[in-house]
Amino acid sequence: MPTSFEPAANTGLFDAVVNLCKRRGFVFPSAEIYGGIRSTYDYGPLGALMLRNVREAWWRAMIQERDDVVPIDAAILTNPKVWEASGHLATFTDPLVDCRNCKERWRADQIEDACPNCGSKDLTEARPFNLMFKTYVGPVEADSSVAYLRPETAQGMFVNFLNVLTTMRRKPPFGIAQIGRAFRNEITPGNFVFRTREFELMELEFFVPPADSPRWHRYWCDERLAWYTRYGIASEKLRLRPHEKEELSHYSAGTTDVEFLFPWGWGELEGIANRTDFDLRAHQESSGTSLEYFDQPTGESYLPHVVEPAAGATRAMMAFLLAAYDEDEIGGERRAVLRLHPRLAPYQVAVLPLSKKDTLAPLSRDVLHRLQRYFMCEFDETQSIGRRYRRQDEIGTPYCVTIDFESLEDQQVTVRDRDSTEQTRLPVEDLVAHLLGRLDI
Ligand code: GAP
Repeated sequence: MPTSFEPAANTGLFDAVVNLCKRRGFVFPSAEIYGGIRSTYDYGPLGALMLRNVREAWWRAMIQERDDVVPIDAAILTNPKVWEASGHLATFTDPLVDCRNCKERWRADQIEDACPNCGSKDLTEARPFNLMFKTYVGPVEADSSVAYLRPETAQGMFVNFLNVLTTMRRKPPFGIAQIGRAFRNEITPGNFVFRTREFELMELEFFVPPADSPRWHRYWCDERLAWYTRYGIASEKLRLRPHEKEELSHYSAGTTDVEFLFPWGWGELEGIANRTDFDLRAHQESSGTSLEYFDQPTGESYLPHVVEPAAGATRAMMAFLLAAYDEDEIGGERRAVLRLHPRLAPYQVAVLPLSKKDTLAPLSRDVLHRLQRYFMCEFDETQSIGRRYRRQDEIGTPYCVTIDFESLEDQQVTVRDRDSTEQTRLPVEDLVAHLLGRLDI
């Protein structure tokens, strides 16, 4: 049986975006020809392009445009001692209940006193369920060969703190950043790619002198909120929400979430936590290796405190798509348009010869090759030009470049703007500079 996207919130916007994602090749149910695997998704050609752009937008703001953050790329398979020290083996759990009637399982904190599937109140007592995926390294399935897929990228940064400190000659305040896959055996994944068992994290661990952590926490809350508006989400659809004491993760002395107004209500995009020296202290004690920083001017050694902005790339992509989706009317015809920021759109430019006739091919290919050096481009010569514009609007391409028969005479092409649909004619020679200026790339 083919899998469906199981939309949990039956709103028009949610359905429109989920359908567009499938129809236009952003997101597919994973291994669909075998019936899929529940709440697991594959990113199609446009999704792979857009997810890469989300990562790059984060990398640009968090690493490229700063001089106090360096990247790493740590292993996904992790020594179990890391998770023992970090507290994940003991406390990275959700409360699980079973329905004795229909045998479904639920997160106790997400349901009232009845099973959402069959309505039965015959539920087991809640028991802690560890969310980490366990596996075995090597051919023997023994206790000594257990390893875990990382549920967060953060620990890769803590266990490499000393390596980075010494090889990069850093001193607090400085950060280590990482983007990569994370795995959590969620009891109730859902709402499309909002909560999945395999997802992508973009995390920064920012190491600061202990007394400075409240100031840096406020700083990162403002920075991270501004990142989402910079890439096109209206500020009314975003808010900062400090956690209540009982919500805090085991490592956090204070967390503020950046939340987005999803079709079903406010939901977390990222958490900005003050992790204090919890992790460095735990790894220092557990490994027996000193992780203190020696501050030469004061002659003091200390364990830095950590402020951590941790964002989901796949969840951010979904928020950017929801925020960008729009429908309007052009020349009496309704159109769906993704008003994505040019840096996030899968393609920045579409090259569209007016006709498939051979005479337009050499110039059209020449224009394509000039643009491909700077932008991700799509080349499309099938169907009417109106339909091709609609198709590009729907996948968020900010500019279409059309080559017509006059172009052969005057070496000029037409640039069409996705949002205003305005058309500008200009020489092929000026095209790259013109688009670079308009795309802010
Ligand atoms: N190191 C801290 C940490 O991992 P988190 O709040 O558990 O913090 C950070 O996760 C972000 O990762 C969340 O704000 C969310 O955007 C994303 N995320 C968490 N669980 C997810 C899941 N199951 N599916 C998709 N994204 C998820």
